[in-house]
Amino acid sequence: MFSKEEIENIRKEYPFLNLKPNDKEIIYFDNAATTQKPNEVLENIKKYYETENGNPHRGAHYLAMASTEAYEGAREKVAKFIGAKSANEIVFLRNATEAINLVAYSYALNNLQEGDEIVISILEHHSNLVPWQRVAKKTGAKLVYLYVDENMQIPFSEVEEKIGQNTKILSLTGASNVVGTMPDLDKIFKYTRDNSDAKIILDGAQLVPHKKVDVSKLDIDFLAFSGHKMYSAMGIGVLYGREELLNSMEPFLSGGDMIEYVYEDKTTYLPSPQRFEAGTVNVEGAVNLACAIDYIDKIGMDKIDEYEKYLTDYAYDKLKKLDFLEVYTTSDELRAPVISFNFKNAHPHDVASILDTYGIAIRSGHHCAQPLHRFLGSNFSCRASFAVYNTTDEIDYFVEHLEDVRRILGIES
Ligand code: ALA
Repeated sequence: MFSKEEIENIRKEYPFLNLKPNDKEIIYFDNAATTQKPNEVLENIKKYYETENGNPHRGAHYLAMASTEAYEGAREKVAKFIGAKSANEIVFLRNATEAINLVAYSYALNNLQEGDEIVISILEHHSNLVPWQRVAKKTGAKLVYLYVDENMQIPFSEVEEKIGQNTKILSLTGASNVVGTMPDLDKIFKYTRDNSDAKIILDGAQLVPHKKVDVSKLDIDFLAFSGHKMYSAMGIGVLYGREELLNSMEPFLSGGDMIEYVYEDKTTYLPSPQRFEAGTVNVEGAVNLACAIDYIDKIGMDKIDEYEKYLTDYAYDKLKKLDFLEVYTTSDELRAPVISFNFKNAHPHDVASILDTYGIAIRSGHHCAQPLHRFLGSNFSCRASFAVYNTTDEIDYFVEHLEDVRRILGIES
């Protein structure tokens, strides 16, 4: 695991730690919403615009070619990072939400019909739920939920009961952004392959930043994730799709740079990835994501994973002992670095606002997971989520100030 000194060196790379609004260093525990960025990732944006800025695929001059090379190089890097067979399987989009919407619009709307079933879980973020509701409504397909047990795990009996010949889509989170559950993807996906001809989609928004994901080993059809949750800039996300499947799909958006030939009355399309990247693309975002991947590779994904688990276990053990809190996160050893909780009889926005006065940033609200919150019996929660630059000292400070919040809100222990 990282030594204290290694973590100190990692922290030196994050300018936000020098901000000190109200003379306090920010303790940033809102990493599941977006991570902070290290210097090399921040500098990379400037470097791109200073040295490689052109409109890719559209010019014979030096900068257009430099930009094309940078953009396509980033695609190669992402393909390697997730174990894709070819860079053609990597589509650059704005974020995981756009990636799931692309599959819903371009694949599901054109292939599903009445009697078909779309299976998701109650753990899903709205981005892996609302698009499927819309597909179900438009096609007549049925939306089926896998529910969780008291420990926020999906019992395998749910999978056996709900996945079968009618299942045409299984779209599952790899890690819950609220309760941290990491479903047993190998087992669930294998069962789905063996018992249906469903297309398998993995929402990797909260998984890819924390664990090595290999799309070939997982044998999935699509993977969606966002750059900004893994130390890169906002506005860049990835859809991985099997090449032959992507090439069989209708475009999502249409216009420049996705066409082969355009006539007055008809158009033929380029294959993936250009088919799905209409208009001028976010080159600096793609290049920046590649830079963040280099950063992760340099410090080591396995070490990040191990350290975040250590932080999460440390915080979970402390929070579980506070009897004025209700903790929702799964107790399972395998969990994402997020801990959601409520003060009994207090609104999360009050808790978050008081913590903010001590320089502690957590998220409060429904975390874009209203059905899951209803299932938990609450409309909202507080959430602390960790990244590689957090420390156990920060967790101690946070826990100490939870006691202050309790006192300020007049909640008896
Ligand atoms: N999906 C992000 C979160 O969970 C925004 O906070």
